[in-house]
Amino acid sequence: MALRIAVIGMRGIGNTHASVYHSNDLAELVAVCDIVKERADEAAEKFGANAYYSVDDLLENEKLDAVSVATGGFENGGDHFEPTMQALEAGLHVLCEKPLSNDVARAREMVNKAKEKGLCLGTNLNHRFTPLAMQAKEWVDNGKLGDPLFVNMALWIENPNETSPFFHLRALHPHSLDVMMYYMGLPEKVHAFAVRSPGRRNWSNASINIKFKSGAIGHLSGSYDAGRLNERCEVAGTNGQFVLDGVFEKLTFYPRRGGDVEVYHNPPPGEEGHMDSFGDTFMTRIGAWIQQLSDGVSPDEIDASGAKGLAAQEIIEGAIKSFQTDTVVTL
Ligand SMILES: NC(=O)c1ccc[n+]([C@@H]2O[C@H](COP(=O)([O-])OP(=O)(O)OC[C@H]3O[C@@H](n4cnc5c(N)ncnc54)[C@H](O)[C@@H]3O)[C@@H](O)[C@H]2O)c1
Repeated sequence: MALRIAVIGMRGIGNTHASVYHSNDLAELVAVCDIVKERADEAAEKFGANAYYSVDDLLENEKLDAVSVATGGFENGGDHFEPTMQALEAGLHVLCEKPLSNDVARAREMVNKAKEKGLCLGTNLNHRFTPLAMQAKEWVDNGKLGDPLFVNMALWIENPNETSPFFHLRALHPHSLDVMMYYMGLPEKVHAFAVRSPGRRNWSNASINIKFKSGAIGHLSGSYDAGRLNERCEVAGTNGQFVLDGVFEKLTFYPRRGGDVEVYHNPPPGEEGHMDSFGDTFMTRIGAWIQQLSDGVSPDEIDASGAKGLAAQEIIEGAIKSFQTDTVVTL
């Protein structure tokens, strides 16, 4: 039987979640909810779902299996806590947009609540849900790369918005840090520098160093001043290196000693694994979430779980502390 789903927060991203559920046979989008009536009504009409204007009403009147929370808020995460906690209290699985919360203490509460209730909590860390990123992960897991030594990550976009001094770090870098941890595992220590471009109030460029628990090391350069999307991940191991250019565009393997360089591209339109644009990562990530719920996997097997979203936020808060105190922070 299809999973009964509702989406909470119906602007751009909530509508994207809704369209993924709407087109997936394993899910039925039964309701949408926004405190702004017109947004809920418009989406309800578009998807043939019921409209609600408060989470309480939604939970009282619909029999659901899971919800997506796409409410945004301060630092793009200030409004995620309440609907997530309400849905978990009501016994529903939750896929929450990133950051889980802009407030790391609240993000911890969300993860703890899901654990206490035995429910699945996922984070929409969609950047690595691409065939090429998954192929690179296989190389890490099957030993082709050898023992991971270092990672070099870049995630740069143009975002002129200003909400707080650390908006750039909290709103954007759950994604890049998640990609880094995907290949390198959990972090142990962090150190950061940051610089604003002229006229900006938030620390819109950052340079972050990480030591992972495995002993491997890594660097992230992040920016909200880039003028273009630049995402690139290089990972070096004892047997070779790979470079992932873009989110899904190109993957190259460089053997360390002899052997051929291997180059893989996004397959052409119509071929299996082809991705048209970044927007397709919502399809793959939310598709994986639906599949896992449908398969009844246990909460600790959820890919890009709440715990992983929280781990990324712990690095961000550590980086902020490092920058403010000019020290290396142990996580
Ligand atoms: N994963 C990605 O690639 C990606 C990309 C962009 C944005 N995002 C994230 O998606 C989220 C949403 O982004 P957006 O641009 O659509 O946000 P937005 O702020 O434009 O819209 C949020 C909507 O949620 C509604 N809302 C707020 N609190 C609510 C509540 N308690 N109940 C019901 N509705 C509520 C608001 O009225 C608004 O319509 C953000 O957290 C953002 O960080 C993720």
